[in-house]
Amino acid sequence: MPDTDLAFDWGNTPSFWFSVRRKLTNESLFSTQGSKLVYENQFLEFVTQLPSNYNISGLGEHIHALRLQPGFVATNWNADIADPVDRNMYGTHPFYMETRYSQNAKSGEVQGVSHGVYLRNSHGLEAVFGDTNLTWRALGGAIELYFMDGPTPADVTAQYTSGIVGLPAMQQYWTFGFHQCHWGYSNWSAVQNNIDQYRDHNIPLETQWVDIDYMDAYADFTTDPVNFPVDEGQALIGKLHNNGQHFIPIVDAALWWPGNLTNYTSYNHGHDLGIFIKNPDGSEFVGQVWPGNAVWPDWLDPKAEGFWATEIADFHQKIPFDGIWNDMNEPSNFCTGSCGTKSPPAGPVAPGERNVNSPPYAINNVQGDLNAKTVATNATQYGGVQHYDVHNIFGYGLLRATNAGLQKAMPGKRPFIIGRSTFAGVGKYSGHWGGDNYASWQLMYWSIPQALTNALFGIPMFGPDTCAIGGNTTSEQCGRWMQLSAFFPFYRNHYGIGEQPREAWRWPDVAEWSRDTIRIRYSIIPYIYTLFHAASTTGSTVMRALQWEFPDDPSLFGADRQFLLGPAIMVIPVLNGNVSTVDGVFPGTQPWYDWYNQTAVPESSHLANTTIDAPLGHIPLYVRGGYVVPMQQPSYTLRESRRNPWGVLVALDSDGCAEGSLYIDDGESLKPSQAKDVSFLARQSSLVAKVHGDYMLDMVTPLANVTVMGVPKFSGSVRFNGAHVDSQQVSYDQSRQLLQITGLQARTSKGAWEDSWEIKW
Ligand code: NOJ
Repeated sequence: MPDTDLAFDWGNTPSFWFSVRRKLTNESLFSTQGSKLVYENQFLEFVTQLPSNYNISGLGEHIHALRLQPGFVATNWNADIADPVDRNMYGTHPFYMETRYSQNAKSGEVQGVSHGVYLRNSHGLEAVFGDTNLTWRALGGAIELYFMDGPTPADVTAQYTSGIVGLPAMQQYWTFGFHQCHWGYSNWSAVQNNIDQYRDHNIPLETQWVDIDYMDAYADFTTDPVNFPVDEGQALIGKLHNNGQHFIPIVDAALWWPGNLTNYTSYNHGHDLGIFIKNPDGSEFVGQVWPGNAVWPDWLDPKAEGFWATEIADFHQKIPFDGIWNDMNEPSNFCTGSCGTKSPPAGPVAPGERNVNSPPYAINNVQGDLNAKTVATNATQYGGVQHYDVHNIFGYGLLRATNAGLQKAMPGKRPFIIGRSTFAGVGKYSGHWGGDNYASWQLMYWSIPQALTNALFGIPMFGPDTCAIGGNTTSEQCGRWMQLSAFFPFYRNHYGIGEQPREAWRWPDVAEWSRDTIRIRYSIIPYIYTLFHAASTTGSTVMRALQWEFPDDPSLFGADRQFLLGPAIMVIPVLNGNVSTVDGVFPGTQPWYDWYNQTAVPESSHLANTTIDAPLGHIPLYVRGGYVVPMQQPSYTLRESRRNPWGVLVALDSDGCAEGSLYIDDGESLKPSQAKDVSFLARQSSLVAKVHGDYMLDMVTPLANVTVMGVPKFSGSVRFNGAHVDSQQVSYDQSRQLLQITGLQARTSKGAWEDSWEIKW
């Protein structure tokens, strides 16, 4: 890497050390000097120095604020555990981003410079945050470190994904619609009832999900013949598809183990191929999950992915699903050890021998023993590898195999997967949900830093169980949550069996607030889709922390009670009960426009923490001066929305400028043969839309309106491609500095993006 700003140094006195510094400034970013580096078979330790009051985020997956501070111990041992605060949980991402701020002595200007560090290691890990250092420990493997030189936070994530672990997968257009899931539908009629209720309440439902209830005795790739017969399912899914809606079933990581070959063909196929994880004696390792005795495919085995892909493709012939929800892939085991085959636990080890059962150093695993509630550490995988060494990448293997399966089932289409257990780089195969949470305001808030850290990890397709899988919620809380999650990339309401029902249609208020907010979300899906395209091609982020967009403002580091969607839209959600205001900040020096009244927030609000009106049903949203947001009129489904007229929202900065972009393709192809890129540029009383590319929308969708916010004075006339626009189509409000141009359909009847155009005002 000739053009990196980083230099590597090392030495042997008093003992081996290494460091990484910036070439430009000589600043040390990472240094083990002054500490002892330990490199043992089952224990690695190295310490790096940090400045005091460091600004670090990342190192997931944890339920934690965005900023990591002294005292925090980031443990990684993938575990099935309902969102525990600060402890290890579903996924492993040994990557952090650090920002250092410095002040120019002469000008007084503050500058933030960021870098990234990634430890590529699949073992049990911990990173201990001291006051001025970070101690890394690993239960094996190598010290394989990657450094990203930034210098902006956006550069760091782009370098991490595009250069090291892989760019996030592009998603299909419909996946950005609203999803409903529930564990506990007792039959297809209950599922259909939910679909009907959403329709009757006119709350857009894009995708209906089913949990393990649909399976026959919880065996993957089967359906319960009594309550979920195949023909009835096919009819229900057929109807969904006709209506432009979609269907997602859960598929768990473990397969039922019948004990011998029976008519459970998925087990038989895997058994015949010998691809299940084994006991040390070569028998199948049998734990317990929902079906009772269960086995796990060994993703290290080169035949496992093909096996899994075939099971998925065959199942798709029966149940024509549109994507897959992968659960329990930590992997989760309800018993300890191979309880099914009763393989004895590993025996005592001789001195000096590797002890995977009870390694000499214990990380603070949330489940206690490393063997608890997962596959045993001495279980044997392909090539004689012990589960101990690859535990944290099991979940990744499943998601990669499911991705292959979906490509086999639906060739040429982008696989849509939401998985629970993740590892660095999994965003190229799958999205992720937040796992099991509780109906509390605190967990609702934590979903924001959880989403932002997943964004850092290159998993932009993230969302929590909106309204929570467990615990009682209220219409107030569920309503606020439905509004908050409407601005997360992945938007799903899910709750558990036996829990208080909480679909958006259950309460009239929640129904109304959800309807309104989903309309806003759907109107900006063209913008979100464009952000995703950029993420999947350049490694930019979709949901963003304030700091990533305003890297020179130290006060924003760790701000995680409000966030941005792309560069242009800011969300300041209510995260407490019983309040009708929320405090927020308006960063930077450019205007922010209130989404609802399309007027600039008073400048006096910019520097202060501002109290904002937020009565029930209102989620404060702002558009950032300097940006153009492409929009489309929303309908019940995104298929319909895509056929509606377009709008363009222009938020001028204080110089009267703004820019933005729009990406359009067929919304589903892995490699679209055609696409369109539109770039928007507003300068000195004009907006130019430049169209590149040749994608034809299947319906001609004209431009309906252009709204320009922040217009201090108006000439009184508007021209579209040089032709005068009738004054009846133009309204200007001097006090709000708002210019609205409507009825442009006739001028764009061949389609809004057929040709480039220009509006002058
Ligand atoms: C655990 C998952 O986290 C949850 O979302 C799901 O409902 C249950 N498993 C049942 O499948």
